[in-house]
Amino acid sequence: MPKRIFSGAQPTGNVHLGNYLGALRNWVALQRDYESFFCIVNLHAITVPQDPKVLAAKTRELARIYLAVGIDPEVSTVFVQSDVAAHAELTWLLNCVTRMSELERMTQFKDKARKQQENVGVGLFDYPVLMAADILLYQTDLVPVGEDQKQHLELTRDIAIRFNRDYGETFRVPDPFIPKVGARIMSLADPAKKMSKSDEESEAGCIMLLDDADAVRRKFKRAVTDSGTEIRFDAARPAINNLLTIYHLLTEKTPAEVEEHFGGQGYAKLKADLTDVTIEFLKPFQERVRAIDDGKLDEILERGAARAEAIAGPTLAQAKANMGLTGAKS
Ligand code: AMP
Ligand code: TRP
Repeated sequence: MPKRIFSGAQPTGNVHLGNYLGALRNWVALQRDYESFFCIVNLHAITVPQDPKVLAAKTRELARIYLAVGIDPEVSTVFVQSDVAAHAELTWLLNCVTRMSELERMTQFKDKARKQQENVGVGLFDYPVLMAADILLYQTDLVPVGEDQKQHLELTRDIAIRFNRDYGETFRVPDPFIPKVGARIMSLADPAKKMSKSDEESEAGCIMLLDDADAVRRKFKRAVTDSGTEIRFDAARPAINNLLTIYHLLTEKTPAEVEEHFGGQGYAKLKADLTDVTIEFLKPFQERVRAIDDGKLDEILERGAARAEAIAGPTLAQAKANMGLTGAKS
């Protein structure tokens, strides 16, 4: 049996180059070696306020993006989280084995809660438990994500281990799968911060996958650089390091080849070439996003939900039985 992977992204804001280089790109690379489930996590999205019309549109847009980056629905299961009720139901069971103190420690919660001030929803607090349910329902072996999700993965493992100990073997304990390079693409405007869609003030530092060529040009032109002039990979010069990492990942040239390519050149050349390779990547990608027909998309998502349900349903039934939740059928 091939090992199984599960991952997901939220249909909020705009998908950016960090999402692609840190996550989506790896999903595409892994899908033929693993049995793969790629979810559009709209239940996670509503942990902060959303406009219903916008959320519905963004959900379908993200599905198109998954397909356009190269996720093959004949090979991988692509589905929308809210189409498979087991996700919400298992979350409740897992809530009852998760401690408040564990969730209070989550750095993503602390960051997001700070921005929401007094309107912090219970859903936002519970977000990592829903994520654990996503992963555990599929008896997942590996979870490919960016560095920022590592803490959530550790919690998922702790919840699985505790559930198995208290109620008998139920869930496979998953491992994170974090790429060595690209797991943390930084903002072009502030290389101390990760490239992020939620941070409104950092728009200028964030290349969106649906940006047009002018926006890409403008953002790279304004990208901050470090002092010094040499163009080489150097952790002590985070801005240049980040730009070179993006170039390295998009061109698939080795770091040595990248340094050789820019040898003796200035920052202007780096920015110009980076702009070109990014536009070259985005243009055909955006054409594929637009080419996917609505009816076809419905069909893919329906088939994906049915395939997901076929795995999630039995896992949920087992978890309920193990907890003694048998009701009428006992
Ligand atoms: P989200 O944007 O929260 O839906 O995240 C989707 C995926 O993109 C997750 O696997 C994240 O770890 C990954 N990701 C988000 N931001 C970055 C970034 N700046 N660099 C690398 N990966 C990222
Ligand atoms: N929390 C993840 C993020 O913000 C998205 C996510 C939800 C996810 N459920 C998941 C990722 C399960 C991997 C596996 O990026």
